[in-house]
Amino acid sequence: MTTGSRPPPRDRRFAVWIGSIAALLVAATAAGFVWLPAVQAGRDGPGLWDAICSAIGLPSRGARAVAVAGAEPASNVAWTAATQQLLAGANPGRGAALAAASCNGCHGPAGVSDDAIFPNLARQSRASIYKQLQDFKSGRRDPAVMGAYVAALSDGDLSDLAAHYAGLPVPGTARGQGQAQQAPVDAATLRLVDHGDPMRGIAACAACHGPMGFTAAAPRLEGQQRAYLEVQLEALASGARHNDIGAQMRGIARQLTAREISGLAAYYAAAPAGETDSRSKSTRTK
Ligand code: HEC
Ligand code: HEC
Repeated sequence: MTTGSRPPPRDRRFAVWIGSIAALLVAATAAGFVWLPAVQAGRDGPGLWDAICSAIGLPSRGARAVAVAGAEPASNVAWTAATQQLLAGANPGRGAALAAASCNGCHGPAGVSDDAIFPNLARQSRASIYKQLQDFKSGRRDPAVMGAYVAALSDGDLSDLAAHYAGLPVPGTARGQGQAQQAPVDAATLRLVDHGDPMRGIAACAACHGPMGFTAAAPRLEGQQRAYLEVQLEALASGARHNDIGAQMRGIARQLTAREISGLAAYYAAAPAGETDSRSKSTRTK
């Protein structure tokens, strides 16, 4: 036995390898299980896993799980068969009477408002109108203005109102009024609309808001008031508005710069709103 002698050089190299690999493992574990979760704690937007899923085009359920982990659900509305049946069987004529009594003063008799702080409702998705009205009623969306007008209305009333506004024709000139003074759309805005920005976890707007795809109750953006779109994107980014199920819109809005928000709002306000009404059907499929 050669006690006290130095180990042969070969063994030392081996020890260094093992040591480095062990150190790497410890560092990766610390980063993956301790540091990243700590950095992302309190963020209810898409997490690391969702970002990876969305970047490679896989549907992910993680976002919903994160929202469930929070104290309050984003919305009380669920797209159950009962809700879809209620919407499908709504009575637009009854909705028109209700609208004349309590809504048209602000949103306009044709569902097109001449004041930019009131959103246009003509041709809006039926599911989206219904969900927003329910959220104002339950307080999931700030009820400061709208709350009083929906407080006394039943589920049936709200779905009738949604059917009424969803079915109103869009007078091309009124909803497209931003078009005349519209500057040419910049390439960066178009890229966000059509492709998003996977590096920042932003999915293409068109994938949820159409025409590429329609997520349940994603509102129609084309022809909406420009100022309204801007205010909503800012409210979603700051979390002041937090009624989007699974935080799917908050996660995107908070990644957008002020310049991008303004470009997107201008783009959608000027986009023609008059195409087919297939979306109210599409939104019912999920
Ligand atoms: C006093 C004016 C006023 C009246 C009356 C009013 N609204 Fe509103 N509505 C608003 C404002 C302002 C908003 C924007 C959200 C906010 O700031 O609360 C809004 C938002 C909405 C939205 C959300 C649209 C979206 O895409 O985000 C819907 C749907 C809506 N109103 C429907 C109605 C219906 C239906 C009635 C009648 C029962 C009604 N409103 C009565 C002012 C009004
Ligand atoms: C993963 C699907 C998804 C993507 C991608 C997405 N949105 Fe949304 N967005 C939604 C949903 C769902 C809502 C409705 C939230 C709610 O229920 O209140 C929404 C709401 C909005 C609203 C509020 C409009 C209103 O009438 O209240 C705006 C503005 C908006 N999105 C803009 C955008 C823009 C711009 C992009 C692209 C940068 C985008 N969205 C990408 C799903 C999406």
